[in-house]
Amino acid sequence: LDFETATTSFKELAIHKGTPAEAFRHADRIVGRTYRSGHQEQAYIENNGVVAFPPDAARGGLREVRGSMQCPFYIVSALARLFGEPPERIRVVQVTTGGGFGGKEEFPSMISGHAALLAEACGRPVRMLYDRAEDMTATTKRHPSRVTHRTALDPDGRILAMEIDVLLDGGAYTTLSPVVLSRALLHAAGPYRCDHLRITGRVAKTNTPPNGAFRGFGVPQVAFALERHLDHVAGQIGIDPVELRRRNLLADGGTTATGQSVADAGASREALDAVLARSQWAATKQAHRAWNRKNATKRRGLGLACYFHGTGFTGSGEIRLASVAAVELLKGGYVRVRTSSTEMGQGTRTVFAQIVAETLGLPCDRVETFDPDTALVPDSGPTVASRTVAIVGRIVADAAQALDRALAAQAGRESGSPWSVRDFIRAGDAHLAAGGDPFFRARFANPSNQRFDDVSYVGEAYAAYAWAATVVEVEVDLASFEVAVRRVTSAQEIGRAIHPRFAEGQLEGGIAQALGWGLFEEVVMRDGRMANGQFTNYILPTAIDTPPIDLVLLERPWEHGPFGAKGIGELPMDGGAPAALNAIADALAIDLDRIPASAERIAKAWGARSSAGRTT
Ligand code: MOS
Repeated sequence: LDFETATTSFKELAIHKGTPAEAFRHADRIVGRTYRSGHQEQAYIENNGVVAFPPDAARGGLREVRGSMQCPFYIVSALARLFGEPPERIRVVQVTTGGGFGGKEEFPSMISGHAALLAEACGRPVRMLYDRAEDMTATTKRHPSRVTHRTALDPDGRILAMEIDVLLDGGAYTTLSPVVLSRALLHAAGPYRCDHLRITGRVAKTNTPPNGAFRGFGVPQVAFALERHLDHVAGQIGIDPVELRRRNLLADGGTTATGQSVADAGASREALDAVLARSQWAATKQAHRAWNRKNATKRRGLGLACYFHGTGFTGSGEIRLASVAAVELLKGGYVRVRTSSTEMGQGTRTVFAQIVAETLGLPCDRVETFDPDTALVPDSGPTVASRTVAIVGRIVADAAQALDRALAAQAGRESGSPWSVRDFIRAGDAHLAAGGDPFFRARFANPSNQRFDDVSYVGEAYAAYAWAATVVEVEVDLASFEVAVRRVTSAQEIGRAIHPRFAEGQLEGGIAQALGWGLFEEVVMRDGRMANGQFTNYILPTAIDTPPIDLVLLERPWEHGPFGAKGIGELPMDGGAPAALNAIADALAIDLDRIPASAERIAKAWGARSSAGRTT
């Protein structure tokens, strides 16, 4: 079923701002175009897999599931519902997990249900591990998209109004599609000023396996469309693409599509300036012109994308989640962090330990972290939405402060001043010896007083935003149309890098994944089924295809994040693809409106250009 002609939907949504119809009537130029993108497979290290144990009569009928997952408490809710049992009778333990990227956000609830039902039926533990072909064929992927832009401009290239229509391919079941659509619409106008907007969106029902959460959660699709479109607009109205963006990027205090005034929105300009300087944009452009004149078989090009990403759940999501985190005081002056946030390779455990250690003024080796086991940790929400460090990390810091206050009061010292290890051991052991509660909890308290209307889509859609600009340099072979990404430069404003090396790892990984989506990865569906569900024919970029990535970390601390941190998990996924396609379009003077920009598609666009004899 083609999602573009599918007639039934899972969800429709719209955002309105100002009076776009009127603005279009008065516009000097109107530029419209449609952009399309395909599926993407999460390609985590190990496939989905769990072990389920039958109900244990000795423990009140407790059912236990262990497995690879992002969100242990999602599985608790799913199994409680499946078996009609109270959640206390379900125990879920995350085992070492090698990446999820959204692909282990909801699917583990499904496979856990299957395994738990079988365990009950046979009275024995059941292990269910997908092999790669099963996993790729059956589990959720990134939503294919069709995004149509109509943009009204004044003679100086200022955006007067935008109409954006977003269509996503939902596959056969609802999954998280409505939430993905919501985030897509909220980011569709990008980090740009625009007073008159009409953004509409729909998720179509089709006959493929369902699409769902994938790092970026709808934003890569809309950022691709917008950033390709701005290059197209620049060409149409005869303005430099960098200048077009500079004239329209938000400044500090600027308002988003939902009318949210964002104090630090000018970070988008800072990111643009930083990436242009670091990539030597102007000089490189000039060098390319000379190089391209001399070289008969290859062309080089440079492309840019500016983008942003909202931290945490959308709208009132974090308020409703009301996440809880705890720290536990141990004998001998040690502290243990208890949360349901999962480590999947991002560095969660280390960063939480750093946050607690820094809050108490203790060395990191005084803090240990606890792997999520729903019998032993509070529900600090799912590990999704770039929320672990920025949202849960702040709750962890609050819990550590509660511990500090209690011990400081007993020791007769001022709270909030760093402990020496010796004093901390003495105060902690005294607290425990006196029978004091070793657990200190904190709950999400809407520190930024965020307000959002989930019905009208007006207000503060996210408590914080991270901002970025990325430049990609490519070399395209005119015989094979193979694209070599020579260099990526990216400036990312992330509030505060609590662990700079891990932050760089997240940012590099996200950019590499974005390049894969933009250039190589193509899911082929045949009769509603994935026809290339193996790594032999689903082509992923490897280390050889991944260029040097030069990062500039910008830090405008978010006052409500732990030590200023904003969410960074998804931001780097949002802009690499459009920057790469803009670079190819620049190298060959062709138009590209579809992801992936495979060699075949580039060859076709190049052929169309040559035969039409066009130069732009
Ligand atoms: Mo996600 S795509 O918020 O796991």
